[in-house]
Amino acid sequence: MRGRFIAIEGLDRSGKSTQCDRLVAHLTETTGNKTHLFKFPDRSTPMGQIINQYLTSGVALSDQAIHLLFSANRWERIEDIKALLEKGENVVLDRYYISGIVYTQAKGLERQWCTNPDLGLPVPDITLFLTVSPEVASQRGAYGEERYEKIAFQKRVAALFHEVAQRNCITVDASGTEEEVANAINQCVETVQIGEALDKFSGL
Ligand code: TMP
Ligand code: MG
Repeated sequence: MRGRFIAIEGLDRSGKSTQCDRLVAHLTETTGNKTHLFKFPDRSTPMGQIINQYLTSGVALSDQAIHLLFSANRWERIEDIKALLEKGENVVLDRYYISGIVYTQAKGLERQWCTNPDLGLPVPDITLFLTVSPEVASQRGAYGEERYEKIAFQKRVAALFHEVAQRNCITVDASGTEEEVANAINQCVETVQIGEALDKFSGL
């Protein structure tokens, strides 16, 4: 049987990275199979390095160009992800195409335009959306260091995330303790049905 394929989405400083690490450990233990974490953007690739410069040092790129780079950065890792899943290993994603779409749409670009480059990517078995208010997130350590970590922008992203999550995600309240959030995530993950074939992303 193929591995489990799980994505975690949320605002900046919603605790995604911590929870992804915990979920990797949980899946390794409960399924007995290797579990891999992929983080998007993957800043280690040549495209990821341009994305990193854009996010951290204000390199100028048009909204369209950076959007396509974020999408290309997913496409450049997808064959590796599929191969692991086919071997029966699990894959956890720290952000995926929903982030890609809502962060760019929050800049004013059209939903359909934002969706197009990601069409055809494999759809996760479950996408968890960690909710935390932009105000609470902004109190967390090192907030404001990266380009999009501004409350007004995060509020626009949050509104789009909430709308999209109704149809595409399971929402998890991420304002509790690390332990409480991890328990909620583990419960959601246990109920997931794993189909043989991966669906192809056809829109939100
Ligand atoms: P990170 O904080 O998870 O490393 O992501 C860096 C920033 O990039 C974060 O503000 C979300 C944003 N982002 C996009 O705008 N488009 C995308 O496709 C992805 C994956 C992230
Ligand atoms: Mg961030």
